[in-house]
Amino acid sequence: MTIGIFGFGCVGQGLWQVLHETKGVRADIKKICIKNPDKPRPIDAAYFTTDPAQILDDPDIDIVVELTDDPEAAFSIASRAMRQGKAVVSANKKMIAYRLPELYQIQQETGQPFLYEASCAASIPIIRNLEEYYDNDLLTSVEGILNGTTNYILTKIFSENLGYAEALKQAQTLGFAESNPKMDVEGFDAKFQLCILILHAFGVFVEPDEVLNWGIHRLSDFDIRQARSRGCEIKLVARCFRQGDRVSGWCLPKFVPVGARFSTINNEYNAVSLESAFTETQTFVGKGAGAAPTGCAVLSDISALRYHYKYEYRKFAQNTAKFDSDTTEINLYVRYQQEGDVDRADFTEISEHYASNAGNFLIGKISLGKLKNAAWLNNEQVNFLAI
Ligand SMILES: NC(=O)c1ccc[n+]([C@@H]2O[C@H](COP(=O)([O-])OP(=O)(O)OC[C@H]3O[C@@H](n4cnc5c(N)ncnc54)[C@H](OP(=O)(O)O)[C@@H]3O)[C@@H](O)[C@H]2O)c1
Repeated sequence: MTIGIFGFGCVGQGLWQVLHETKGVRADIKKICIKNPDKPRPIDAAYFTTDPAQILDDPDIDIVVELTDDPEAAFSIASRAMRQGKAVVSANKKMIAYRLPELYQIQQETGQPFLYEASCAASIPIIRNLEEYYDNDLLTSVEGILNGTTNYILTKIFSENLGYAEALKQAQTLGFAESNPKMDVEGFDAKFQLCILILHAFGVFVEPDEVLNWGIHRLSDFDIRQARSRGCEIKLVARCFRQGDRVSGWCLPKFVPVGARFSTINNEYNAVSLESAFTETQTFVGKGAGAAPTGCAVLSDISALRYHYKYEYRKFAQNTAKFDSDTTEINLYVRYQQEGDVDRADFTEISEHYASNAGNFLIGKISLGKLKNAAWLNNEQVNFLAI
């Protein structure tokens, strides 16, 4: 196999390392296309180019590995490569989540494989499991901690008694969080992964903007104290499930009882729990970020190409289900500053109400449709968690 890589950042360098440390996969990296020609590189300069055509138009290169951080460029690279008769491996969750219908179509037209195991929960082998092992309609739900950055921050908050701002700063200093952490801390990154998992779990294409995501960005000391007083920690959880012909999904911070499975998933680790009719719950745990762990998932896709593996999207072909979360009800904790901050008419039931000088909250049932459109979420003094 002769490989051309796009991107030589964290994951690109991780792939380089694992590829050179495994004897089982014989693949030669011929060229690496990067953006900035002046950046110092840890390997021979002769590998590098800034001209995509040196990879895409090279007939010797049969596999293109797309590891950029630019979703627009990534789609152009992946689609051009497949149209040039090359197999493609990618880790770009945002690009894949938004462009899956087109990418599916290009795979059908060209017959080329497009694999993206590293895009979901990094090192955890989840997509191929959903495609192959759960190749039936017995699966009922997929629930996961899918973002290593937020899980690292939440672990610091609960194990070292830090506030949210302090824990975020520490994660940024150690390189676990970007200087602009919005995609991670507001739940977008986990949502993109969830959208990809929904297709492989239930055969449904879902537009990311249809899926509600909320993150940990408004977490206050008051919220953290409430979690502790309930014997809980807080985790950012993405969940999708099927009921009849309806698939629902969301990505929200959630109170998780101490001792429950997800409460034991710490730092940059991810976990994915699958529920199916006869096996009950099965949980996969593994590193959800980092150079070598993510590089390993990319390597596994490259290795699968040796035996011409491709996703068959069988559940999509057989599918009758639709994504519709709007009527799904969840139990919510909502913290607010003063009465009137939250429109109680949006709730079908309010089971608890707490008021004090330190803060106020209510607990009640609300549909995801109402929650998604609630104007009161624009109030910076309001935060919510699933309970
Ligand atoms: N990091 C993780 O743990 C992790 C885990 C799972 C999935 N992912 C996904 O993997 C992908 C790569 O992440 P990363 O952390 O490795 O990013 P990164 O460290 O920021 O590296 C990005 C690389 O892409 C290159 N690049 C950007 N635009 C390009 C273009 N138009 N053409 C060619 N190269 C281009 C950059 O070039 P320069 O070097 O010249 O700047 C850089 O080498 C992302 O989609 C990310 O979401 C990452």
